[in-house]
Amino acid sequence: MRRTRAAVGKEFIIVFRLSMIDLVEDGSTADEVVALAQAIEAAGADIINSGIGWHEARIPTIATMVPRGAFAWVTRRVKAAVRLPLIATNRINDPALAEAILAEGGADLVSMARPFLADAEFVNKAAAGRETEINTCIACNQACLDHIFAGKVSSCLVNPYACNETRMLPVVAAVPKKIAVVGAGPAGLSCATTLAERGHAVTLFDEHDSIGGQFNLARRIPGKEEFGETLRYFSARIATTGVEVRLGRRATAAALAGFDHVVLATGIVPRRPAIPGIDHPKVAAYVDVIEGRVKAGRRVAVVGAGGIGFDVAELLTHGSASTIADYQAEWGIDPAFRGRGGLAPPVAPATPREVWLLQRKTSKVGDGLAKTTGWARRALLQKRGVQMLAGVEYLKIDDAGLHLRLGDAEQVLAADTVVICAGQDPRRELQAGLEAAGIACTLIGGADVAAELDAKRAIEQGTKLGLEL
Ligand SMILES: Cc1cc2nc3c(=O)[nH]c(=O)nc-3n(C[C@H](O)[C@H](O)[C@H](O)COP(=O)(O)OP(=O)(O)OC[C@H]3O[C@@H](n4cnc5c(N)ncnc54)[C@H](O)[C@@H]3O)c2cc1C
Ligand SMILES: Cc1cc2nc3c(=O)[nH]c(=O)nc-3n(C[C@H](O)[C@H](O)[C@H](O)COP(=O)(O)O)c2cc1C
Ligand code: SF4
Repeated sequence: MRRTRAAVGKEFIIVFRLSMIDLVEDGSTADEVVALAQAIEAAGADIINSGIGWHEARIPTIATMVPRGAFAWVTRRVKAAVRLPLIATNRINDPALAEAILAEGGADLVSMARPFLADAEFVNKAAAGRETEINTCIACNQACLDHIFAGKVSSCLVNPYACNETRMLPVVAAVPKKIAVVGAGPAGLSCATTLAERGHAVTLFDEHDSIGGQFNLARRIPGKEEFGETLRYFSARIATTGVEVRLGRRATAAALAGFDHVVLATGIVPRRPAIPGIDHPKVAAYVDVIEGRVKAGRRVAVVGAGGIGFDVAELLTHGSASTIADYQAEWGIDPAFRGRGGLAPPVAPATPREVWLLQRKTSKVGDGLAKTTGWARRALLQKRGVQMLAGVEYLKIDDAGLHLRLGDAEQVLAADTVVICAGQDPRRELQAGLEAAGIACTLIGGADVAAELDAKRAIEQGTKLGLEL
């Protein structure tokens, strides 16, 4: 720090990011953090930013399952010991929360990394009292940090313009058209609002009573509540762009006659595997379980360990509300910072169910999950005692449970409920009728490719088509 100060002179602002809680074994003690902060102050820094956890830490520190503002207390602890301005960080994605942290005096500034990828206008919108128009970072990491680790340009799932500003340019439509967008999931929402911004007359249809598509399911998963913010953002954007929304009615090819172009953003149909006994009353579709229409029993087998299988297992094993204290206890963070690294023995949560998470593939369960969050999702389910089995052959479902073959041995899982999360197929029932009637149509999102957990592609594809038509 002294040599850097000497090199840059007095007028140059130096912000030092200091690891204030290492979250690794043998990490700094609380006293060592303070001693280091004081030494950095004495050596000539202007501002100290908070570093939270090493990349090697086995505790998620920025994923969507981390409650908002969960590390503001770490910065507050150091505040009394130094005179320099301190910056609080991690999962501060909302102006009211940022304001509260500053008002409490726990920090002098707040840092936002991903929230500015999600919305470069964040500060201007907050200053103008237009918070409802902020495109909120949902902490998914899917297009930012996951891209970094894959050597790709960092962008944002909810804002594909991020780092593509010079490549994706909205241009007013030369000839305004009458365009129908069928499906108000993330793909349809991004497409409809982009088209309307460019001057097209857009009507957005959804058979449900609310916009959002599968994001209405995602937001019900504990730790994924942030997905609801994207729907609040799109509601505001629909209002400002003037998209006409028709909800609660299934669109038909006949009703779409008269439009110049139809965008099919109709999403997916969950797959139903041909397991003998699939019609048994104990079999449930994931949609029904997530929406609460089916209450799962105490012992549950989840068929399919993709992203949705993981989410369903998370929902089924989740006990009570997710407060910052619950998160700290479950992951082993000591709020009193007594030991090295700020660690404490994790407290195994009381889980309401016994869950098996199963897949046919022989690879490790959860192998296909995202780089920066998959490990945490696996670890969370392991903490809750979820049994993960790979290389499973499903034999039948009956009153006794789910019969399966694992290697050479057959066994019965005495499941009360069997939840099917066995993939998805594109939903395209309108396509043939529209093409027969000579109406130009384009498929986007899940209706185009039904890979699960891919809202990134859905929103990017919707936005790009919205810029093209
Ligand atoms: C529990 C869960 C968790 C998820 N978590 C993640 C995640 O963490 N990250 C991620 O990237 N993705 C996640 N996903 C997947 C993500 O939600 C989808 O990739 C995304 O919603 C696909 O968007 P879409 O607009 O193509 O389709 P959908 O969201 O499926 O929307 C399609 C819409 O079209 C409507 N529709 C269909 N036919 C008609 C018709 N004829 N008339 C009127 N309306 C019609 C449907 O009602 C629906 O609302 C999750 C999904 C689930 C279920
Ligand atoms: C794409 C990306 C790259 C990052 N690179 C760095 C880095 O080089 N050094 C660093 O200290 N933090 C880095 N971070 C962490 C952020 O500075 C920030 O602490 C973290 O994302 C949590 O804050 P947020 O919830 O506001 O995003 C990076 C984060 C992202 C998303
Ligand atoms: S990709 Fe996800 S985590 Fe990254 S900035 Fe966008 S919303 Fe936030």
